[in-house]
Amino acid sequence: MIFRELNRGKCKTYLAISEASRKAAIIDPLRDKVDRYLAVLAYHGWRLDSIIDTHTHADHRSGAMELGELAGAPVVMHRLAPAPHVSIHVEDGQPLKVGDEELRVLHTPGHTPDSISLLAKDRVFTGDVLFIHGTGRSDFAGGDAGIQHDSIMGKLFTLPDEVLVFPAHDYRGHTQSSIGEEKRSNPRLAGKTRDDYINLMNNLGLPLPDGIQEALQPNQSDLDPGALKFPTLSQLNQVRQLSAAELLDRIASTNPPMLIDVRGEDEYRGELGHISGAHLIPLKELPERTDELANAKGRDIVAICRVGVRSATAAAILTGLGFEQVWNLKGGMIEWKDAQLPVER
Ligand SMILES: [Fe+2]
Repeated sequence: MIFRELNRGKCKTYLAISEASRKAAIIDPLRDKVDRYLAVLAYHGWRLDSIIDTHTHADHRSGAMELGELAGAPVVMHRLAPAPHVSIHVEDGQPLKVGDEELRVLHTPGHTPDSISLLAKDRVFTGDVLFIHGTGRSDFAGGDAGIQHDSIMGKLFTLPDEVLVFPAHDYRGHTQSSIGEEKRSNPRLAGKTRDDYINLMNNLGLPLPDGIQEALQPNQSDLDPGALKFPTLSQLNQVRQLSAAELLDRIASTNPPMLIDVRGEDEYRGELGHISGAHLIPLKELPERTDELANAKGRDIVAICRVGVRSATAAAILTGLGFEQVWNLKGGMIEWKDAQLPVER
């Protein structure tokens, strides 16, 4: 297997190529470099077997969906990824074929719930979980410093010391490290306890990236910024959450809520199914179709999607449009299904 880094910038995009079959996987493509990736692939005669995003990116637009359409290759992400364009959802330990070679998925949440690392021969692609002499921030939605520490200590740092480390970002001109080197000298981890790490990460005081909503919302919903007026982060933070068990109780009550499923029709009828009685209004169409919620007067509205991310956006939009009793199903249909609650298709 041979490897290339394609951007030579602070955001890293890697190719893993099986030489014998000339098939390749691309990891974390940027949207504004898709043409360049296609040119590199064509020049060498490599065919894309898969397009992998290590997580839902908040700092740049992902090129995965566009590249998937242009190259006819499936987009691969962890099962907790919110975006509808993902065609293969993977879990911890799962092998991913690249021609006659293989990458192995490690679920390494903490930067985001859907963060994966990819183990390939002599190296591991660590996404934004572990950087060279640093770690990815854990203060975006769904991030958790303690969980990130567990991912690094329990998964990445149990790999052999000589395994090379290739992160999705580097801001200081490094190109690679190793597990042993990071264990010895990563300033956020070496000689620090889990509590030290949580304390450090929760007090970094970093500003949010410029245009975080403009990158994050399209990456997690497949919608262009022009397609919808996305809520602000503070509107999103005010969304009230319901667990699957709480929603089940409310559905059985004398005044059950109106359920609005904001996924695409293919997802609504797909593998995860939908909750009985849930009314399908894809997120993109929600602002124009609020007249369908007229009979929700005096009832609660619960927004539902795959993992509770797009539906949080929907709940914030509805609240902004004057609906007062709006809730989000936390964890979405994934948690509903994991709790073995009934679905329809
Ligand atoms: Fe990231």
